[in-house]
Amino acid sequence: MPNLRLGSVAPDFTAETTQGTIQFHQWLGDSWAILFSHPDDFTPVCTTELGEVARKSEEFKKRGVKVIGLSANDVASHDKWIADINEVGKTKVEFPIIGDKDRKIATEYDMLDALDPTNVDAKGMPMTVRDVFVIDPKKVIRLKISYPASTGRHFDEILRVVDSLQTGDKYRVTTPVNWQKGDKVIVHPSVQGAEAEKLFPGYETVKPYLRFTKDPSAQA
Ligand code: BEZ
Repeated sequence: MPNLRLGSVAPDFTAETTQGTIQFHQWLGDSWAILFSHPDDFTPVCTTELGEVARKSEEFKKRGVKVIGLSANDVASHDKWIADINEVGKTKVEFPIIGDKDRKIATEYDMLDALDPTNVDAKGMPMTVRDVFVIDPKKVIRLKISYPASTGRHFDEILRVVDSLQTGDKYRVTTPVNWQKGDKVIVHPSVQGAEAEKLFPGYETVKPYLRFTKDPSAQA
């Protein structure tokens, strides 16, 4: 299994998806991306989650983020299930979902459940948990989170992290607790002295190590 630390390159793979065969790195191109796994097709929490991802397609597009799902089912199963997701979620799934029945990609990305004895297939093989990987245009993993099968994710939080990462990369700032786009940001600790004054005129010093400034992305 490769080392999937933050900062490492997302492993490349070839996969069958609901939109045909993809070669992951080629599919990523120079976009941001979210690779997210779910436990199983035709399951309740997953049905609500994939509907929400489909409804948020404009939010992902606005940020230049491609989205791709994955579970240890085959593509024929995904295809049938998408009709239900569209009906229940009053939406249209337009992102690809990987059919990873042999768990090759799930194993490589360490997505399989070792905890929940109910999250298994008919043969007792572990299914995937609710993992999320945010990958940047250099194909570097910038966020990874794992949720249990029983808990649906909050995709606004994932969009919030994308906003934070994109703002931080562009402006050399970090973002405080509960930050939302437009709130004050923090001057990155590596920006000091005259450079800080030049980049963030009038920044506010709460402690020498905690300096706030206006969200530069909100003014752009
Ligand atoms: C669900 O999506 O509801 C689910 C899937 C697998 C295990 C438990 C719940």
